Amino acid sequence: MEDLDPLISPQVNTVLQITTLILLLLSIGIKRLRKLALHGVTMLGAVILNFSSFVLIMLPSLLRTEIIRTQPAHTVSIATLVHSSIGLIALILGVWLVASWHLRSSFADCFRNKRLMRLTTVLWLIALMIGFLLYYILYAY
Ligand code: HEM
Repeated sequence: MEDLDPLISPQVNTVLQITTLILLLLSIGIKRLRKLALHGVTMLGAVILNFSSFVLIMLPSLLRTEIIRTQPAHTVSIATLVHSSIGLIALILGVWLVASWHLRSSFADCFRNKRLMRLTTVLWLIALMIGFLLYYILYAY
């Protein structure tokens, strides 16, 4: 894969993504225990972490990835674009979910957004899995 631009700190990004995955799963476990405020706060943490790694690492890395322009039909290009698109949708939905709660003591709006939370979780998990696969193909394979 020598024609690929090196991604910015791929190892750092992967550690951040693993931390995000752990936070996401932990937060779902916390919700099952009915600790809803803690569920909201841990999701807020996961969204901030995801937003930071997107802006600081993933977006610059995407813009530098030469293979998308030179070989758009390559598996790596397709996987990168699918990962980025699904990840961006999950990020926007995540930001919207935590912003619409904005740390209020009432969970009424949160209950209304349950289906959207489920969709966000599924999209987020898919994006994370493709991201881990990409890291494996590019750096560990
Ligand atoms: C990225 C943001 C979030 C994600 C991915 C997420 C994920 C989830 C998931 C997967 C569920 C289970 C849905 C189900 O039982 O069908 C859920 C339920 C719930 N979440 Fe979130 N959540 C997020 C943010 C928040 C925030 C900010 C709050 C506000 C405190 C919140 C409060 C709730 C409530 C009240 C429920 C329903 C509890 C129940 O009926 O058992 N969530 N969330």
